Amino acid sequence: DGQFRNAFTNNFLVGAAAKTEQLSSGSLDAAILSGQFNSLTAEYQMKPDIIAPAEGQYNWTAADELMAFAENNGLQLRGHTLLWHRTAPNWMLSGSPAEVKTKLQTYVTDVVTRYKGRIYAWDVVNEVITDDASLGDSYRRSNWWTASGGNADYIDWAFEAARAADPDCKLYINDYSTEFDDKRDRLITVVQDLLARNIPVDGIGHQMHISVSMPAAQVFRAVDAIDNQFMGLEQHITELDISVYSDPASCFADMTGCQTDYGDAIPDTVLRDQALLYRELFNGFTARSSLSSVTVWGISDAESWLADWPVTRTNAPLLWDGDRNAKSALQAILDSS
Ligand code: XIL
Repeated sequence: DGQFRNAFTNNFLVGAAAKTEQLSSGSLDAAILSGQFNSLTAEYQMKPDIIAPAEGQYNWTAADELMAFAENNGLQLRGHTLLWHRTAPNWMLSGSPAEVKTKLQTYVTDVVTRYKGRIYAWDVVNEVITDDASLGDSYRRSNWWTASGGNADYIDWAFEAARAADPDCKLYINDYSTEFDDKRDRLITVVQDLLARNIPVDGIGHQMHISVSMPAAQVFRAVDAIDNQFMGLEQHITELDISVYSDPASCFADMTGCQTDYGDAIPDTVLRDQALLYRELFNGFTARSSLSSVTVWGISDAESWLADWPVTRTNAPLLWDGDRNAKSALQAILDSS
């Protein structure tokens, strides 16, 4: 017991994303979380639309429950996320840029203050880098961009408010597809700009939603490129999962391009490749000193968000199967560590 977290050196955090629905006492997921992990991320219940559904109205119930579970079971909590275009409540985005700034500052201050000293890192901003290589800059043209008056000032506002509320919490910029050079280069450009202006960024989060055909070397290149660029900046792997599908790029733009559902017949060869990739990744992650935390985006294959994204399809991206038996992927990590 405790084999997973104990497989790594001291100060290396292994986390999972979870929701309160999984934590009822006696549940298998609660036992796996408390027994095997030492970090916890809220899968959705610390996002702004849940915490602040209406102006002047906070709903802390689920967030507090996750915080209490972590503290009662010896897990550290990773905060996710203070700002994300997909979970921005409309009230926060409405009004003049000056009004939006005040609302964002108030929200960030209140949330970070509530958990001050109890959360080791916050994803201050999530997915603010554009995927559109044809823009003249690196910023996503999101609802936040528009609400700020057509610029990226909201990123500054969020980081500054978070730092003021908790000087010791590590403040992260988190994004996906950092394993691809073009997206990562845009992220690097943004972080360079933020640091040059003394915006308090402490770390870069790599989501790492990858497929079983992703070469481990490409993942490590993402971490190493950030190291080379920003000596001293921390890094976390924040949302690791390994889809059993190797979709063509068109799967995202045109869902008919996605690989056909395996149904109940995921080939053994695919699960073996997945186990080997998990093993290689954890070996490489623990060897990299700027990386101190790796979170998998869920506990068992029964709960993964990839069941519905980018299409509804059977998937098996995690370390425990739907019955909460350890998969060969978990065994492979333990065997090699
Ligand atoms: C997902 C959760 O897994 C879902 O349960 C929720 O409905 C939507 O968000 N990138 C992120 C995560 O940063 O917050 C997302 O989590 C997955 C993609």
